[in-house]
Amino acid sequence: MTQVSIDIAAGARAPSPYVPRMARILAAEQMTETERFFRLQAEGEAMRYEPGQFVEVMVFGIGEAPISICSSPTQGEAFELSVRSVGVVTNRLKEFKAGDRVGIRGPFGNHFDYAAMKGQDVLFVAGGLGLAPTRSLIRYVMDKRKDFGKVTILFGAREPKWLLFRSEVEAWQKRGDVDVHVTVDRGDASWKGNVGVITRLFSKVAIDAPRTWAVIVGPPVMFKFAVLEALAEGIPEHRIICSLERHMKCGVGKCGHCQIRGIYVCREGPVFTYEQVKRLREGI
Ligand SMILES: Cc1cc2nc3c(=O)[nH]c(=O)nc-3n(C[C@H](O)[C@H](O)[C@H](O)COP(=O)(O)OP(=O)(O)OC[C@H]3O[C@@H](n4cnc5c(N)ncnc54)[C@H](O)[C@@H]3O)c2cc1C
Ligand code: FES
Repeated sequence: MTQVSIDIAAGARAPSPYVPRMARILAAEQMTETERFFRLQAEGEAMRYEPGQFVEVMVFGIGEAPISICSSPTQGEAFELSVRSVGVVTNRLKEFKAGDRVGIRGPFGNHFDYAAMKGQDVLFVAGGLGLAPTRSLIRYVMDKRKDFGKVTILFGAREPKWLLFRSEVEAWQKRGDVDVHVTVDRGDASWKGNVGVITRLFSKVAIDAPRTWAVIVGPPVMFKFAVLEALAEGIPEHRIICSLERHMKCGVGKCGHCQIRGIYVCREGPVFTYEQVKRLREGI
């Protein structure tokens, strides 16, 4: 494939952010009826990324979609994605298997500020597919466990069959150095765990608010009520972190599709503090 290049100041040539590079699928697995997991390897130079960034995944002849990288750079050169089939691109991706190739642009966006969290407690609150971007930071924190204080993970889904990374979450629960609680809105015959909305899990954990960062990612209604719980615990707005989803096209701050009040979510996000999100919503 021809690589288009742009000149940069030093006269060296950098790959254009608009031109996809090829990535090979190393492993693909259906996680739920609608979510598919992929491990990929960029062809040529390895793709360097940070927890919280996303890539534009291109199915040639069909289109592209922004997808969060759900692995951590501490895991090696391959990277992982969890894709929910909702539309044109993601439904086609459902058919992709190990050995197939896709186009990748990115990584794009900012990332979780793990350096600021060093030595502090981290509370993860993930609902449904919200575990995808959150997992990239969870894996990072797990791999650098001694750099962080207390780590708590609250994870929820509508029903047991929609829980992502189920065996991995069970492995986290078996680790002695992480406090993990899982709930479902509705149980089934086999479910022996918590039943109820994710915010109920806050009563099961001890939070030392002044030293805690809360990373909250999930559907809007979950996000809203989880933020209220975090605030009620005393966690300040600038320490509540989220990852926003908007319709995107270019991914690099040029087309304006992702704009909210002059902020380009693809470039200045997708990771924001709740303090920033509130300003975006209220226009202050
Ligand atoms: C930063 C970021 C990270 C993301 N991370 C992930 C991730 O990790 N995993 C994941 O699965 N998804 C993720 N998403 C969401 C994903 O990018 C979208 O779901 C994307 O639209 C899927 O592309 P598609 O072509 O399959 O769907 P589309 O065909 O674009 O359809 C998406 C949804 O929009 C609706 N829709 C489409 N066109 C219209 C229209 N004209 N009017 C009204 N509704 C319409 C469809 O019915 C469907 O519900 C992320 C998004 C962002 C911005
Ligand atoms: S997606 Fe084009 S400006 Fe953000």
